[in-house]
Amino acid sequence: MPRTLDAELRRALAERIRFYNELGIYDFYRRGVPAGADTVVADLEVQDNQPESGDEMSPRKATAVAMPVAVEENIFEVIAPKPEQGVSDPAKALKIIREDLGDCTRCVLHRQGRKQIVFGVGNPKAELMFVGEGPGADEDQQGEPFVGRAGQLLNNMIKAMGITREQVYIANIVKCRPPGNRTPEREECDTCSPFLMRQIAVIKPRVVVALGAVAAKTLLAMNASMMQLRGRFYDFRPAGVRSPDWDGCKLAVTYHPAFLLRDPRQKGEAWKDLQMVMRELGLKAPEKATQ
Ligand code: URA
Repeated sequence: MPRTLDAELRRALAERIRFYNELGIYDFYRRGVPAGADTVVADLEVQDNQPESGDEMSPRKATAVAMPVAVEENIFEVIAPKPEQGVSDPAKALKIIREDLGDCTRCVLHRQGRKQIVFGVGNPKAELMFVGEGPGADEDQQGEPFVGRAGQLLNNMIKAMGITREQVYIANIVKCRPPGNRTPEREECDTCSPFLMRQIAVIKPRVVVALGAVAAKTLLAMNASMMQLRGRFYDFRPAGVRSPDWDGCKLAVTYHPAFLLRDPRQKGEAWKDLQMVMRELGLKAPEKATQ
């Protein structure tokens, strides 16, 4: 009988596997279930019971753990080969991921009023990717990320970097609108983000910009405040995806455009983040048109 793992343990295992992936270790072998397999739970000491929404959180402590020996079969999905692997055309590979997603019912968001799945939009070979939190009402209506007011601001931010929206790729951590635009739950992020990880692995950007704390914390699997997260690059490899021909990319964190609409005084800080990204990509801001 397959044993069911609770969400926290599942996440901890996924994280542990991600850590091994980062070390270049992809192959894991399943031993028989030993007597007293429940000790797996005790062995796996992951301290992450911080509140979900608070901004001031200490970085998660990654504790040394024994590699668990008895886990439910599908936990290994995070490193199993994906159907798009080996497809060299990124547009086709993205289509395969979209088909794999199907009319998704993997989390509760599918029955909480979503009109449609908002997969992602843009250049399948983009050097720069933006990742937001989840679709709002406009995005849910139109099936495209960042098309509402926050999207207008994101477009302006992209333009200020000297590039166009069509040159980049834009997606979200969750692909279905959370009701009332609430913050997506950890479980929803964990269920949906593997598809985003696969999109990133196909596009192979040079830089990913995480817009806001939900995107940053999910992509980096790390609990920290925006103040702690911004202002530097992270080496990033999408979790759970084998990318033998790609070394990963840089990831920067900046404020979510919706936050900047609420607190425009932070736009200068966001611009500093984007300038750091521009330097990395060798981009120059367009000269201001003379009045
Ligand atoms: N906010 C997001 O995080 N994503 C969108 O697509 C729109 C608004």
